[in-house]
Amino acid sequence: MDYSQLIRKRYSVRSYLDKPVEKNKLDYVLEAGRIAPTAANRQPQAVIAVTSEQGLETIDKACNRFGAPVVLVVCADHSQTWKRSYDNMDSAYIDASIVTDHMMLAAADSGLGSLWICKFDPSVIRNGFGLPDHVEPINILCLGYASTEAEQSPAASPDRHERLRKPIDSTVKYEKWQ
Ligand SMILES: Cc1cc2nc3c(=O)[nH]c(=O)nc-3n(C[C@H](O)[C@H](O)[C@H](O)COP(=O)(O)O)c2cc1C
Repeated sequence: MDYSQLIRKRYSVRSYLDKPVEKNKLDYVLEAGRIAPTAANRQPQAVIAVTSEQGLETIDKACNRFGAPVVLVVCADHSQTWKRSYDNMDSAYIDASIVTDHMMLAAADSGLGSLWICKFDPSVIRNGFGLPDHVEPINILCLGYASTEAEQSPAASPDRHERLRKPIDSTVKYEKWQ
């Protein structure tokens, strides 16, 4: 599948089959996160791959995973992130989100559905997975096979962006704000 098809095919899956994800597919997704670019190549990410019953129970206390059998908790280690000298901006959220996006597209490329989640209780994740204070859970990425219902919904249509995204002239400005 070429890139243009891939980015149109991917959608947020909120209903999963009760079917495990093959190890080679999970490895493919995790590798895409490993090679993602990060600020100054600091690679501050730590991805916690959760598939165990106990781990998924913890996830369920933090957010709705919509039945996904695999959950990746994408964290950033603030002791390793790049800080911009002018204003001390910390690259944690940017780096973690590039890693998440790389993995999300790799999932779509391997036929897996995914859902990016930010609406989770970070304290549940911190305590449940034993994160040290300098490591922040930033994104959760659910993975699994989409249910037939999800696959057939209008939300999965590769043409949906015509309706659901702003037109290009309202998101791109040439040369100046006005
Ligand atoms: C940064 C970010 C945070 C998101 N958080 C959530 C979330 O907490 N819960 C949820 O159901 N979807 C979440 N989503 C999914 C978006 O709602 C979804 O990507 C958007 O509506 C576009 O739909 P699509 O992914 O099907 O194209 C998030 C997406 C992004 C990029």
